[in-house]
Amino acid sequence: MKILLIGGHGTIGKRVAKAFAERGHDVVIAGRKSGAVQVDITSKVSIEAMYQSVGAVDACICTAGTGFYGPFDDMTAELMMPGILGKLLGQVNLVLEGQRYLNPGGSFTLTSGIAAEHPARNGTCVAMINGAVNSFVLGAAQEMTRERRINAVSPGLVEDSKERYGAFFPGYNLAPMEKVVNAYILSTEGAVNGKILKVYS
Ligand SMILES: NC(=O)c1ccc[n+]([C@@H]2O[C@H](COP(=O)([O-])OP(=O)(O)OC[C@H]3O[C@@H](n4cnc5c(N)ncnc54)[C@H](OP(=O)(O)O)[C@@H]3O)[C@@H](O)[C@H]2O)c1
Repeated sequence: MKILLIGGHGTIGKRVAKAFAERGHDVVIAGRKSGAVQVDITSKVSIEAMYQSVGAVDACICTAGTGFYGPFDDMTAELMMPGILGKLLGQVNLVLEGQRYLNPGGSFTLTSGIAAEHPARNGTCVAMINGAVNSFVLGAAQEMTRERRINAVSPGLVEDSKERYGAFFPGYNLAPMEKVVNAYILSTEGAVNGKILKVYS
């Protein structure tokens, strides 16, 4: 399969990229600064340019995006907008624009996260974004044509992020990288559609 992986040099993305390459797929990595193709998913124009340069794909996976973490009392619409434009609308636009480039039988796999159900302190913005990504997938799966599918992978705090984020998520179990990667494989190579693939521990 030709797989377009946005965020393929990030913590989760690089594991996903390695696994799919080892499974014999042609993985095209896109990132803001990294990867073979540059894209800023906050921009619809940039997404369209990415698809034009990559061409038709059998799968599109996004492991890019984040959202505002900070005290609830400091949270403002302005602080929330980058995450809304990136992780939420960015992933939505990858699907809306990408439908014209996704081959029949192909799949989209978006990334949400455990915060949708179990927000950490200071994580209300990310909880909202993850919940919206999940709901988008539930709705969009019903609209997919030509046997195309869409799922979300919802990771818990992943093993490889323990050092970077562990202190912000007290009491969270670590999600093993192998299980997280398997969820992307299940979504891409399997038959599941409209699923939120949760890997919390
Ligand atoms: N890590 C965790 O424990 C965890 C847990 C639950 C959910 N998640 C979710 O999983 C996803 C990946 O997390 P991660 O920890 O792997 O992130 P990460 O290490 O920060 O990597 C993010 C990747 O996405 C790219 N990227 C960021 N913003 C972009 C944009 N506007 N346009 C295009 N590419 C962009 C970056 O590319 P450049 O380096 O080129 O900028 C980078 O390769 C995120 O949605 C995150 O919320 C992560």
